[in-house]
Parts: sequence; C-alpha cells; structure tokens
Amino acid sequence: MKAAGIEQDYALRKDNRDLGHIPGAYGLPYLGFMIPLLKDPYAVLKAHYDRFGAVSRARLTGQNMVWALGPDFNRELVMDQQQLYSARMGYDAPLGDFFDGGLLVRDFAEHKFHRRIMQSAFKTSSMQHYIHSVNELAGRTTREWPGIADFHFYPQIKSLLLEIGARVFVGVGLESDIDTLNKSFLDMMAGTLAIIRKDWPGLGLSYRRGMEGRRALGRYFEGLVPAKRNDDGMDMMSHFSRERSEDGELYADKVVADHLIFLLLAAHDTTTSALTMASYYLARHPEWQERLRAEVDALGHGLTYEDMGQNVPLVEQTFHEMLRMHPPVPQLMRRTIRETELGGYRIPADTMVTISPIFCHRMPEYWKEPHRFDPDRFGPERQENKQHPYLWVPFGGGAHKCIGLHFADMLFKCVMVEMLRNFRFSLPAGYADPPAIMHFPFSKLMDDLPLRLEPIHHD
Ligand code: HEM
Repeated sequence: MKAAGIEQDYALRKDNRDLGHIPGAYGLPYLGFMIPLLKDPYAVLKAHYDRFGAVSRARLTGQNMVWALGPDFNRELVMDQQQLYSARMGYDAPLGDFFDGGLLVRDFAEHKFHRRIMQSAFKTSSMQHYIHSVNELAGRTTREWPGIADFHFYPQIKSLLLEIGARVFVGVGLESDIDTLNKSFLDMMAGTLAIIRKDWPGLGLSYRRGMEGRRALGRYFEGLVPAKRNDDGMDMMSHFSRERSEDGELYADKVVADHLIFLLLAAHDTTTSALTMASYYLARHPEWQERLRAEVDALGHGLTYEDMGQNVPLVEQTFHEMLRMHPPVPQLMRRTIRETELGGYRIPADTMVTISPIFCHRMPEYWKEPHRFDPDRFGPERQENKQHPYLWVPFGGGAHKCIGLHFADMLFKCVMVEMLRNFRFSLPAGYADPPAIMHFPFSKLMDDLPLRLEPIHHD
C-alpha cells in the first residue's frame, strides 16, 4: 500500500552522511562514540550537549547522525506534523532484516492501516481478559522463587515474562514449544547486534543464526494462523488472525506472523528491563520496598484490573521512575524524507536523526537530583514530569506511540505486586554500589542481579 502524498523512493536512497555544516564531532574513526556510549550513554550525550548545543552531529559504528536533544525536539520528531520523518528508515539498519513487516518499520498511511490490525488486541475488554493469565503465572512462579538456590533475578524474570508472552500473545498449549521458541528468539536478538551481517551458511556467523531463528519463528507462527482464524481464542494472535481490512479481507498469514514476531521483541525485553532495574533499586532502598509493600498489603489480594489505575500509586510511581532513569528504549531513530530544519540548522533529506529519552529524563534543568532514585518526583505534589508534555517520553508519542503501554503497565504492576506479597528481597552483603549496568540493547545489571529472598507466608 502506498502512503498518500509521500514520495516512495525515499526507502531506496542511501543515508546522507554529509553533516559538516552542523556543529559536533564524530569521535573515533568508524566506531565514533559507540564505546563510551555503551558504558555511560547519558554522560556522552551530556558532553555533546554542553559542547555543541542541542542539535549536533555525531557518529555511531559508521553511521553519521544528528542528535537532537531536549523535549521540543522529542515533540517535533514524534508528532511529525509534516510527515518528514521515517521510522522505517530510522530503524532499517538495526531491525530491518529481523523485524521486516513489524509495525515500527512501516510508515504513514501503510503504518496506520497495519496499526488497525493490532488495535483490537489492546482494547480494555482484551486487557481485562489477559490480567487473569498474568496474575496466575506471576503468582505461581514468584512463590517458587525463594526456593531457588543462588537466585539471580534477570534469567528468572525473563523466563516468566516469556511464559506470560506465550500464553497471552499466542494462547495456551504452547508450553511444550517454549524452549525451541525461546532459542530462536534469543538467536534472533543476538543476530541484531552482529557486526558481520551476512546470511551465509557454514561459518557459524551469529547473523546467520539470527536469520535462521527468524525463519523458524516465521514458519511456526504462520503455521498457527489458519487454526486461530477458526477458534474464538482471546489471545493476541487470535485477535490479529480474525481481523479484516476495510474491504472485508483477512490479513495474510505472513502479515500476522510478522506482527507477532515484532510484538514479542517490543514487549519482552522492555518489561524485563524495567522489572529488573526496579527490583535492584527496591532492594537497594528497603524503605521504599516497605512503602510499596504496605500499599500492596492494603489491597488484601492480587491486582485486579480495577485496582490498576488508582489503588497502587506508589507501584506506578516506581514504574515511572524506572522508565525515567533507565528508559528501555533509550534513543528513538528517524530518517528525514525531505530537507528540513532543526534548531536553526539545515538537515538534508535522508539524514538519520535521533532523540534521546535517556538524556531528557535526566536533564538537570527539569529534574531535581536527576541521578537519584526518587519515585516521589512523580507523586501528586511534585509531578516533575509535567513541566513539558514531551519531557518524559519512555513510550514515545504520536503515530508510533507504544501500542503496548497499558499492557506493560499491567505486567509491571501484576508482577511487582506478586513479588511484594510473596517475599522480601535484598542485595547480597558487600554488593557493589553503584553496580555495573549494561545499557544496550536494554538496561540490566551485568551480574544478572543476585538477590536474597525471604518468603512471606500468608495464613
Ligand atoms: C516498559 C515497556 C515498554 C517500553 C518502554 C516501550 C517503549 C516503546 C517506544 C519508545 C516505542 C516507540 C518507538 C519509536 O517511536 O521509535 C514503542 C513502540 C511499540 N511498542 Fe512498546 N514499549 C514497551 C512495552 C511494549 C509492550 C508490552 C508491547 C506489546 C504488548 C509493545 C509493543 C510496541 C509496538 C508494537 C510498537 C510499535 C508501534 C508503532 O510503530 O505504531 N511495547 N514502544
């Protein structure tokens, strides 16, 4: 489908690398600022901002780009009133091969058309259905965690969320296939980071393994679609499979499978990261953990859909604080379709431009002690996030705004409520402060977060 009014050849053109007229620096040959950015992304962006201003040029692993820093540029790019910025071309290099057909790599009218396919899976009535599976799996699994020797949070939450994803996205009955699917999925994720990007057999390339994983997932999901069309399942895949276009046509099996594969990526590592980082900070700050536990104890039961909006405000503030400090999508990428202007500088067509939640979320101009864990900043008295509508943007905004944000909110709250009900958690004696954090592709503790769990018994 063609995007009305948008020239179609933009996807065929090469990136513009000629940014010499914009202040900035490229850093090391080829690598640019990649190594320091992996270590401390905020520090690198802040140094650029202080030295060159809000709009500057930079380079990351061979890719020349413009960094546009601050809430006004967040608004400019995500709202994109003039259809100047392509998400498809922004994400083509990192995601194009593996997530071809995913919602984020579609633009404008075509994107809108496909977003419709997914909408019904995120309606309130669908969410009210999912919460039962989420609570059941989160309750059962977190009760078992205190019995696990040498407990590390990250692998356990990853596996719980994958199980929830399989149940909610694809429907029950998948449990026996989980290990195979998990392997394909992990291979694919490793493939997205490969430096040698060749789909050649026999050389043990991680890119090749990733593409094999992608093909296996595609075959698996496409194979499920015909049956899904004929059942009355309430899982996301059943919703997509039954959806029809305005002409009454069902969407092709491949289209449904492509959306599901992207959805798994978008949903899984993001929420895994938020829950891991939150568990670290709550273990580091037991006073906060107890404040949240008091709120959860006052509920007297697991989380219902009705509780989510109003009855766990401190859990919600903690979620928002995590998304501020460690936004799971730290930078949003776009490529210009036509020449434009940002901050007074001419930005040629086909230029990569990034905006950075990870920078805006710590700007000292807006946030009090920005590097401190302080969920009260999102409380009714302070609401630091409200100073600018595009200051706190963990879910992006505009046409591509995260379609799963309410689902992520539900997942975070349900799992956190079950954890707080079932055990107290603390860091091992002598745990590093600050610990080593890996920021890309998603924030997590380098050591997978060892935790001590003390079970809470309910009568
Ligand atoms: C804490 C968790 C999450 C965070 C921080 C997050 C963040 C984001 C962001 C920033 C975008 C926009 C990217 C851009 O405009 O360049 C996005 C898009 C998207 N997210 Fe999420 N996400 C989360 C969880 C989820 C979940 C749970 C799902 C699905 C159940 C999901 C599905 C999607 C999809 C399909 C898109 C593409 C939307 C479009 O292109 O129209 N996300 N997400």
